[in-house]
Amino acid sequence: MQDTYTILGLESSCDDTAAAIVRQSRGAAPEILASVVHGQNDLHAAFGGVVPEIAARAHAEKLDICVEEALAASGVRLAEVDAIAVTAGPGLIGGVLSGVMCAKGLAAGLNLPLIGVNHLAGHALTPRLTDQVAFPYLMLLVSGGHCQFLIAHGPEKFTRLGGTIDDAPGEAFDKTARLLGLPQPGGPSVEQAAKSGDARRFALPRPLLDRPGCDLSFSGLKTALLRARDAIVAEKSGLTEQDRADLCASFQAAVVDVLCKKTERALTLYLAENPAQPVLAVAGGVAANQAIRAALLSVCDAHGTEFTAPPLALCTDNAAMIAYAGLERFRAGNRDDMRLAARPRWPLDQRAPALLGSGKKGAKA
Ligand code: KG4
Ligand code: ZN
Repeated sequence: MQDTYTILGLESSCDDTAAAIVRQSRGAAPEILASVVHGQNDLHAAFGGVVPEIAARAHAEKLDICVEEALAASGVRLAEVDAIAVTAGPGLIGGVLSGVMCAKGLAAGLNLPLIGVNHLAGHALTPRLTDQVAFPYLMLLVSGGHCQFLIAHGPEKFTRLGGTIDDAPGEAFDKTARLLGLPQPGGPSVEQAAKSGDARRFALPRPLLDRPGCDLSFSGLKTALLRARDAIVAEKSGLTEQDRADLCASFQAAVVDVLCKKTERALTLYLAENPAQPVLAVAGGVAANQAIRAALLSVCDAHGTEFTAPPLALCTDNAAMIAYAGLERFRAGNRDDMRLAARPRWPLDQRAPALLGSGKKGAKA
């Protein structure tokens, strides 16, 4: 086994084009030598969501720029890179294809190994990149496209305990912002507005809490918010800043409640099997939300469980997580070749029944 691995990672599965270089030496913590992210918010702003064709074209234009910037920022030369890791799914297929083709070009031109990475594995392994968390651990993955509870047993071995049966929480945050005229991405704007709001003013539903298991649902919450908004508009023919803040606070409180109650269930299942490793890690863009983090921390405290959440820049999409997940695969002796395919769907737990539906950020895995 070699002593040091230096991996160049590429990410382009949704609306962030990213390249990063991660290095790990034997016995040492992994290091992010550079992590470059070019977002596409401006390109999609007029459409109220990510337009797949626009995203794919922008990725194709930006990927090599990201790679050059990551190399320059890290001071690493291409000759020092051991392998190219790339998100090969799940995601918007045009974007994933752009990344896979760019990675194949680099791997062929430099004669380097190519490693296809599952985007969800990138998020799910982030606690190992940031805090060297040992396997197994319970992971709550909450993003704009996904929401699932996973037990991480190994770099490519996950068991899904449950997931959303319709929208992901990030989609619900984004939709809420759109309904209230707040900027995209919705998560940060809703969180900001909620700070000055009264969470008790609107009694929004907590979907699926009455049913056993760890599955979640967020689409009813979105609809309830729309009705609450329309009722105010009908009464006062418009929304005040305070109305917006109260709607955001009530919405966020409902999401927090649903995530916490379902996390308690998942934690109970996980701890029954893994009492010696009481760890909950959270990842994905929605994990940037401070109210959600604080509430999950209290759930963990009540269950004698350690809670870990990555720094904000590593919650949302980035290529450092892809480079690191690639490093873990590569170190385990796994790699792909030029037959690597871009996959719109790619569940982490192949044995779990498929989650239905397709969100605005592509198919649910
Ligand atoms: O992980 P990510 O960057 O992309 C996906 O793989 O989906 O997550 C993006 C999502 C968006 O829906 C965004 O609104 C949400 O994460 N998000 C947040 C916050 N920051 C980003 N949601 C709630 N609160 C936040 N502070
Ligand atoms: Zn993501």
